[in-house]
Amino acid sequence: MSRSRNLFRSGQCKNDDASHQSVFRSGYPVSTRSRLFPMYISTLVIIVVLLCTYCRQQPETKIPSLSGMDYLLNNKELQSFGEKLFFDTNLSSPEGQSCAACHGPEVGWTGPDETVNKTGGVYPGALHERHGNRKPNSSAYASLAPLFNAFVENGKVVFSGGNFWDGRATGHLLGNPAADQAQGPFLNPVEQNIDNAKTLVDKVCNSEYASLFRKVGNDIW
Ligand code: HEC
Repeated sequence: MSRSRNLFRSGQCKNDDASHQSVFRSGYPVSTRSRLFPMYISTLVIIVVLLCTYCRQQPETKIPSLSGMDYLLNNKELQSFGEKLFFDTNLSSPEGQSCAACHGPEVGWTGPDETVNKTGGVYPGALHERHGNRKPNSSAYASLAPLFNAFVENGKVVFSGGNFWDGRATGHLLGNPAADQAQGPFLNPVEQNIDNAKTLVDKVCNSEYASLFRKVGNDIW
């Protein structure tokens, strides 16, 4: 039975004030230090166990064997998932508008409405009273764009790369302009108009292709 428990039982804690003061003044007395030693060990064990549990909960990081375009062109499931996302009309808020509403495959992945193209070229978003402020450019080559870059050639500043007409999806955020760009349309109030990223992910998790999403989730870089 340790001394402190004896003290506790016989109600002597109050009389122990002097020894407490010496503890604070001069650090732990030797006997206390030896009692604390097993505590250090058990704390260490708890930390190690927690770390191991935490590590086991992390999804295994898959390193793709191919990189860049080769990787995309060879991953049929990932392509199929992208296609489903692109043509899904249930994700927008309100529902009814997919990416194809402004990037139609039949017209080279740009605005598919002849009348709109003749009269300004800006397309209505999922909320029809809101319009974009530019003509949709083709989304076909987005993943080929290099990182946004500026350099001087023959005394002139030359800009290259990036996505969007002005290259503002530079690729410097996620390492690829198409990846930076993809953060835009779903949440853009003049396009898909979804409240926030969580709502979007919840919708995808409840879609008919949710199992595909879970399968390729780790492949998305
Ligand atoms: C309401 C119309 C509209 C919808 C819906 C829409 N976009 Fe766009 N998209 C645009 C406009 C307008 C631009 C050009 C914007 C700019 O340059 O500021 C654009 C640009 C792009 C670009 C850049 C292409 C390049 O080469 O720079 C990509 C890629 C793209 N959109 C993909 C998508 C995807 C994916 C979706 C669906 C999640 C989508 N868009 C939904 C109108 C739309």
